[in-house]
Amino acid sequence: MAKEIIVSGVRPTGNLHIGNYLGAIKQFVELQKKYKTYFFIADLHAINEPQDPKKLENQTLEIAALYLACGLEPANTTLFLQSHIPEHLELAHILSTITPVGELSRMTQYKDKVASGKPANLGLLAYPVLMAADILIYNADAVPVGEDQSQHLEFARTAARKFNARFGETFKEPKALIQKEGARIMGLDNPSKKMSKSAASANNYIGMLESEEEIRRKIKIAVTDSDKEIKFEPKTKPAISNLLIIYSQMAGEEIKSVENKYKNKSYAEFKKDLAEVIIKKLSPIQKEYMRLIENKNDLLKILKQGKEEAQTAARATMIDVRKKVGLLGE
Ligand code: AMP
Ligand code: TRP
Repeated sequence: MAKEIIVSGVRPTGNLHIGNYLGAIKQFVELQKKYKTYFFIADLHAINEPQDPKKLENQTLEIAALYLACGLEPANTTLFLQSHIPEHLELAHILSTITPVGELSRMTQYKDKVASGKPANLGLLAYPVLMAADILIYNADAVPVGEDQSQHLEFARTAARKFNARFGETFKEPKALIQKEGARIMGLDNPSKKMSKSAASANNYIGMLESEEEIRRKIKIAVTDSDKEIKFEPKTKPAISNLLIIYSQMAGEEIKSVENKYKNKSYAEFKKDLAEVIIKKLSPIQKEYMRLIENKNDLLKILKQGKEEAQTAARATMIDVRKKVGLLGE
């Protein structure tokens, strides 16, 4: 049987944090071993919000190096830039013709971004359509993402179903692969909101490239709950539960066992160890990152190889799609 196909992407919007790692990239690394995987850098999605062009270039290379430093291997996965495969945009246009505008304007992420002051441009509104195209063009079976993307995944499934109903069986309906724990890492300064690179305060997140001192400092001042017990109870103890998830995921240890270990210990002791667990996990990734980012040409070469692999698959899908839609071939 052919291997199942997995597709996902991360936007190069700067300061990749441990939420992105635990919610998405950590899964990518596991999945590449078993499946046919396409992991890309969603640079076209990044420009839906204003970006400084020079910074965007650097952030794109930064994500490429981080993907590799976290353990993605070009021999096992197809690693590329979304903008290198214009077929994504062509399919997005075709999908946009079967998408009611009302459906897009009701999407949570769109509404949140506009409410927070982001320009309500057409790109931002059409964000889920391009994302559906990113996924469907490779005939993905599954898409590993954090929980915040589940509505977009539902949109992609609907788009596939609608296209198939109208033009004949073409796309699979991809399922979302959302981790049981780690799919929604909360902000360190506010455990009622997800950890986010665009948070008002840098104390909200721990960047993948953060220094040891900064990690220690940010964990030390992370918000805790009002009582003293180290217990996993997301509803009543959201702050400590979030820190327990981070500990468990970073150390590869069950939450129960971490809870037991800190049963009669203080928040201060727990936090001190948590910082060290994070540092232990991130430090080899950071070392590898430093090595990779020095060799820009090697990174570009890997992205070019990925582009060629991805393009072959994307072109094949588009030949079929154009024909089904009635666009005359050459
Ligand atoms: P983005 O940076 O928005 O492109 O997100 C890249 C990936 O990280 C997506 O799969 C997101 O769902 C995931 N992600 C972003 N923030 C978090 C978070 N706080 N917790 C878990 N996953 C997240
Ligand atoms: N929208 C995703 C995010 O913000 C990034 C993304 C773009 C993506 N295209 C995708 C994720 C396709 C999975 C599949 O996190």
